[in-house]
Formats: sequence, C-alpha cells, structure tokens
Amino acid sequence: MSEPRRILVTSALPYANGPIHLGHLVEYIQTDIWARFQRMRGHQCHYMCADDAHGTPIMLRAQQEGIEPEALIERMAREHLEDFDGFGIGFDHYHSTHSAENRACAETIYRRLEAAGHISRRTITQAFDPEKSMFLPDRFIQGRCPRCGADDQYGDSCEACGATYSPTELIDPVSVISGATPVERESEHLFFELAHFEALLRDWLAGGHVQPAMAHKLDEWFESGLQAWDISRDAPYWGFEIPGEQDKYFYVWLDAPIGYMGAFRHYCQQQGLDFDAWWGRDADTELVHFIGKDIAYFHMLFWPAMLAGADFRLPDRVHCHGFLTINGEKMSKSRGTFIQASTYLDHLHPEALRYYFAAKLGDGVEDIDLNLEDFRQRVNSDLVGKLVNIASRCAGFVRKKFDNTLSGRFPEPAMHADFVAAGERIAAHYEACEYGHAMREIMHLADRTNEYIDEKKPWVLIKEEGREQEVQDICSVGLECFRVLMTYLKPVLPRMAEQAEAFLDVDPLTWESVREPLEGHRVRRFKPLMQRIETEQIDAMLEDARDIARAHARLTGKTEEKDTVPEDSPLAQDPIAPEIAFEDFAGIDLRVARIDRAEHVEGADKLLQLTLDLGGETRNVFAGIKSAYDPADLEGRMTVMVANLAPRKMRFGVSEGMVLAAGPGGGDLFILSPDAGAEPGMRVK
Ligand code: MSP
Ligand code: ZN
Repeated sequence: MSEPRRILVTSALPYANGPIHLGHLVEYIQTDIWARFQRMRGHQCHYMCADDAHGTPIMLRAQQEGIEPEALIERMAREHLEDFDGFGIGFDHYHSTHSAENRACAETIYRRLEAAGHISRRTITQAFDPEKSMFLPDRFIQGRCPRCGADDQYGDSCEACGATYSPTELIDPVSVISGATPVERESEHLFFELAHFEALLRDWLAGGHVQPAMAHKLDEWFESGLQAWDISRDAPYWGFEIPGEQDKYFYVWLDAPIGYMGAFRHYCQQQGLDFDAWWGRDADTELVHFIGKDIAYFHMLFWPAMLAGADFRLPDRVHCHGFLTINGEKMSKSRGTFIQASTYLDHLHPEALRYYFAAKLGDGVEDIDLNLEDFRQRVNSDLVGKLVNIASRCAGFVRKKFDNTLSGRFPEPAMHADFVAAGERIAAHYEACEYGHAMREIMHLADRTNEYIDEKKPWVLIKEEGREQEVQDICSVGLECFRVLMTYLKPVLPRMAEQAEAFLDVDPLTWESVREPLEGHRVRRFKPLMQRIETEQIDAMLEDARDIARAHARLTGKTEEKDTVPEDSPLAQDPIAPEIAFEDFAGIDLRVARIDRAEHVEGADKLLQLTLDLGGETRNVFAGIKSAYDPADLEGRMTVMVANLAPRKMRFGVSEGMVLAAGPGGGDLFILSPDAGAEPGMRVK
C-alpha cells in the first residue's frame, strides 16, 4: 500500500445563536462520511469543527436572556454537541472560536497581514443606534423598501422584491434593537486589501481546488472587482479586541475561519502533533474544507488570501454543497418543516437521514430535497428491505441449524472477487463526494445478494434430506456479502456497522478487511438493525416541529416567519384577506346547487343567467362567467352557491345568490363543483 495520506478536514462552524437543524446536517453528515471513509482506507484524517461564537446576534441574544455571552455560548456548544453526537458526527475535536488558541491565531494572522502592508484604514459612515449607543449591522435595521414600498424590510435587501440597497436608502428606518431612528455616524475601520491577492487567488483557483461550478462563480466575482474587506467593528461588540487599537474588535468573519486553525492548535497540544507540519507554508499535509454555497465568498477569496498574506499554507480543496429543501420548499417554521436535529432524533433513526442524504449527494452545488415520503420509502426499501433483510434471512438458518457457524471453505469465490473489485469503484465515488453513485453501486450489490438467495431457495432445501451443506453454503455467502456491504456503508452507517461487527464477531471493518471472506467463522445472535419507518413517525415529528416553532414565536413576540410568496403564485396578485372569526364564516350559508338552465343575457357582455336547483327551491342568479363558459356546457352540472346572500337588483333582473368560481378574473375562471354524490341543497361546511 502507498503511504497513508495526512488529512485535516473541517465543516463550517455553526453559529452559537441557534440550534442545529436538518439543513446544517447536510454539511456535517457529508463531511463525517468523508472523514470516516478516509480513516477506513487507512489514512490519517483529523476532523475539526467548533462553534462560531462571536458577533452581534450572540451579544444581543445574551442580553435578551439576561446572561453573559460566555454562558450562552457554553450552553449552545453543549446543545450542538449533543445533536452532533446523536447523528454520529465523529469530530476529532470540537472547539470554540472564543478560545485562547483562536485568539492567538487571529492575532498572529492580523499582525502578519499588517506588517506586510495588507491592512488599511479609512473612515466610513454607518447607521448608529443613538439609544443603544452602538453601530447597527444591516440586519438590525428595518424599514420600507425604497423600490417597492414593502414594510419591515431589512437594511440590506428586500424580501418582497429582491432589491439590494444600503440601509441609508430605507424609508422610515428603525433600529430593530431599540426602535429608535438610526442616525449616521462616522468611524474609522480597518480593511483587508483583498485586491493585493488577485493574481494569487486566480492561480489558486486554476489549480482545481474548487468545483467547476464554483470556479465559474468566482470568475464573476473577479469580473466585478475585489473590494477591500472591512474587518473591524466598534465597541460594543462581542469578539476579540484588535491588538494595538482602542475599542475595536475583529469582525466575526475574520476569526471564524481562523477557528479551524484554533481548533487544530488545541488538538495538536492534546495529541502531540506538529502544528507547522499542517499549517506552515510548506506543509505536505492536506487541508480540506466542506462548506455551504452561501459562504463560498469567505472561503474561496478572503480565507486563502488571509492565509497566503500571513505566510500559511492554502487549502487543497474547498468542497461546496447546496441547500436543503424539505418537500421541495425552503424550510419553514409555519409549515412545520423547520426541523431541528433534536426533533428528528425524538422520532427517527439518525442513520436513516445519513443514508438518505448520502443517496442524494453528489459533487454538485445544487440544492438537495428531503421529500419525506420519498425518504420513508427509500430507507424502507434499501436499508430494511434489501440490506438488513440479507442478514436476517440468513442468520436464522445459521443459528438454528449450524450452531452459528459459517462454511469452512467459502463457496463462491468469483462472486466475492466481484464484490471486492466493486470496492475500488465505490471508494473513488466517496473520494469524489459522489456519495449518490456509491450508494447506487452498493445497493446493486445488495440486489445481487438477494437474487442469489432467492434463486437458491434455502427455505426449500432445508426441508429436503441431505442438503444441509448447501443451505449452510448459501447462508455463508449471504452473510459474507452482508459483511462486505456493511463495510462499504460504514462511513454512512457507523452505528449499524458497529452492530454488524458485533453480530459477525469481527474486528472493525475496513476496506482492507473485505479481501478475505469469513470461513469456518462463528457469528453471534442476530438482532434487528433497523426498523421500518412509519408515516406516523414522520407526522409526529412535523407536529413537534410546528409546536416548537409556535412556542418560539410566542416567546420572541414574533409572528411566525413570513414565507416569501413566489412571484407567479396567485397569492402574489391577490393576497389572503384579513383574518375573520369562525362565527363570521358560519354566517355564510353555502349550498350545493344544480344548474338547471344557463342562458345568455341580452345586452350583457359578462353575465350568464342561471337557474339553480337547491333541492326544493329554485334561484335565479346572474353570474359573471360568460367569458369562460358556454351555457350549454353548464346545464346539468353541480356547483356551490352562497344561498343566504341578500338579493341584488341588477339591470337585467334580481340575482338571488352567487355561484363560486376561482380565478384571477378575465377569461380564466373555474366554477367550483362538489365530488360526485353530493346532492342539491346540501350545506357546505
Ligand atoms: N458561522 C458561519 C460559518 C463560519 S465557517 C468559518 C455559518 N454558520 S451557519 O450555522 O449559518 O451555517 C453552518 C453551515 O451550515 C454552513 O456551511 C451553511 O452553508 C450550512 N447550512 C446552513 N443551513 C443550511 C441549509 N438549509 N442547507 C444546507 N446547508 C446549510 O454560516
Ligand atoms: Zn422591495
């Protein structure tokens, strides 16, 4: 075997002001799979992460809760770790950006950048909250959108029309923190001169360290010019003070990526590793970052530039992934699809989600969708129906008939060789982050194993005399294939793999250990590894998620988050009317009616005259549906009408009610009708 690689891998550091949710897990599960895979291949792989513990939102949240920020971030870190642990995320070390090691790293980098002339100063004008005596980040200013006039928009962009602007352009701006009207105030800020690194960055990006789609995106950024980056914030701020300055702090995004280094520095001290061999300019180790596409700018421009400017090594690979949607839409508190990690864990098996994400993940940066019904079916079919089924159908015979012992000589060497060979293809997929391809290949092997057992029919043979050896052979093949499959799935399903190791009574599975099949080996008693997912579990999880979102909304006094309505939705043209009481609704008497007659009205462009049968009562109604319906098509069909509407005198006669139709008006109209079986006169409730 070639020399083991030495890899330092990271996931982005989650903010310490909120819980881990399923969107985050796309990233942590993905990175964890990659790290576990590398270790199983015999490489040295250290997986680092930390809480991103600085910044205004954390400072304000601590104030709101009446606690010190230190207490808040400590609690959040504990909660985050519990969630990660629940999902089997196996960090080698989990640190905090608010740590002595990170402060030391941040100061070193800053001092070196400054000494090399990459830091400049200039005075800028910013929104200032006169009541709170603090400068306001864009997100903490709200007002009316200067373009479309929508209320309650943030200082940087409008959710209604998508405009981006500076907070000074907002109409009637207020500070979200105090409600005061912000004033403009000047202050001196420190800037990192990103443009000094343009050539270096272009070079680095040409080196294949990022995915092609991202390289493309970065080209656009180069085109629009590299701006100097504001890295300082004025007091009061929650972060590290900038050495040599008065009341100035590093902007949270400066010391956040340095947090990778800070975490590793702490880990080096614990493990006796040589920090410079990993971060020094000439390091011969690998540095790999996994991130979401929203933070690419920081990791593909600022971060490499900072590292280079401070005489550190550059990353070998920055792997970017897309965003999670649930049932095809952005996670939403009001729809109950803002699902926290802990809520999921209360109802479902963590490795079901690990498997589903793996099956969906590729090397691209497209968003990935968690369709909950597809999730249920996929997990049930692949993991329970195919994978676990192999072990459970073979284990029974082996226990009852053969004292848990496998055949002394492996009966299907050719098949085994195929399975071993597939391992290299699967490994290449893992390496390339093409987990979906890997899962497909593995499930193909699972299908082959099940087909093999189905063909050989051990349950028939066992009843025939003198064929026991055959049955033992079939089951030995089945269990060996199961062992190989579990090996290939172990990066994704570490807990199940551990249970499989216990059942098979083998050392921890590795890519190397698949080569020799088990022969004459004794296994232990089989315990089911995973249960089917039932719809009820998913429903219960969604219910909980909704409750949590409501409770949160009550606590923070915020109404439930507004979902942005897509532009082409009818809701955008015709928003939902103000809420009414149930009593108001109950006062409207809706009835099923049959259209007995439909006629044109002399001199009317829009109206048809309808004669409606209410089951014992007849009504004359003028309806504005002429543009959409031919009267002949309406006769005999059922519809729904408002039966207690006050009669209205019109130019052509009296209208005694209204039929219900949907549509934006104009030509497009859709008359409502009940399902077959409804009868004229029935009340609609
Ligand atoms: N604190 C910064 C990262 C600093 S790294 C030096 C941050 N934190 S975060 O909590 O908002 O996000 C952490 C990671 O989770 C990011 O890579 C982000 O892209 C990812 N995700 C957060 N929500 C996500 C989805 N809904 N879907 C997929 N990934 C998502 O950004
Ligand atoms: Zn707008």
